Amino acid sequence: MSKPLIEIVDLKKSFENLTVLNGISIDVFEGDNFVVFGQSGTGKSVLLKCIVGLLQPDGGDILVNGESIINLSSDKLSEFRKSLGFLFQGAALYDSMSVRENLEFPLKRNFDFTQDEIDQKVISTLSMVGLEESVDKMPSELSGGMRKRIGLARSIITEPKIMLYDEPTTGLDPITSKEISVLILELQKKLNMTSIVVTHDLLCAEIIANKAIVLHNGDIIEEGTIDELTSSDNKLLRNFFSSEIIKE
Ligand SMILES: Nc1ncnc2c1ncn2[C@@H]1O[C@H](COP(=O)(O)OP(=O)(O)OP(=O)(O)O)[C@@H](O)[C@H]1O
Ligand SMILES: [Mg+2]
Repeated sequence: MSKPLIEIVDLKKSFENLTVLNGISIDVFEGDNFVVFGQSGTGKSVLLKCIVGLLQPDGGDILVNGESIINLSSDKLSEFRKSLGFLFQGAALYDSMSVRENLEFPLKRNFDFTQDEIDQKVISTLSMVGLEESVDKMPSELSGGMRKRIGLARSIITEPKIMLYDEPTTGLDPITSKEISVLILELQKKLNMTSIVVTHDLLCAEIIANKAIVLHNGDIIEEGTIDELTSSDNKLLRNFFSSEIIKE
């Protein structure tokens, strides 16, 4: 069997006396769309922030391509971040910048593309999310679903190998949420990305995931396919999924 692209080994993270991650281990293989479920406050965003290097774990390791990314020098960390795309929870666009400027931002900050190359990437990425005609709009002129698409375009414009999504469909109506989930899956295939997707949205997970875990009180309480998780006898899981279905 091939080696995992991302290996999370016995990862621990606490804040003062609050234990958030109690030693969790995950293997994510190339091409996986790995979904992380869990109630609010179970450490899903903390997990993603540890992978991006925004938070320092207290113990354990995170290996990408077999190399630890904990304690990287700031040069190496910024090199590693170039291979990552991150759609933050509630990902806000820069309101004072046009769609074009929002998309140019990661390209100009991290890479040395010519203006021609940048223009081309902006248009081709916008066309992937179906919004070329919005290139000169301001974020305030866009609907919530359109803003999500632009946020998605901004996080994939650098063609990352690994994409991390934190609640990509929160705040959207079920139809838009489904459209965004389908779009994520399409982009994933087109760009050959490996993704970790944190979500409460079962429909989104059903569309995107090939594997999933459920976090609870700092531990992984179940892992498997979405079908396996939704048909599990585990009471905590049954409560979790039934409340998600009721919310829909
Ligand atoms: N920088 C921080 N300092 C102190 N506590 C933090 C910090 N970041 C997160 N926490 C705490 O860690 C716990 C897990 O937070 P996290 O944001 O990972 O939850 P979550 O699973 O993403 O929840 P949600 O579904 O609501 O987004 C929470 O109790 C939170 O208050
Ligand atoms: Mg969160």
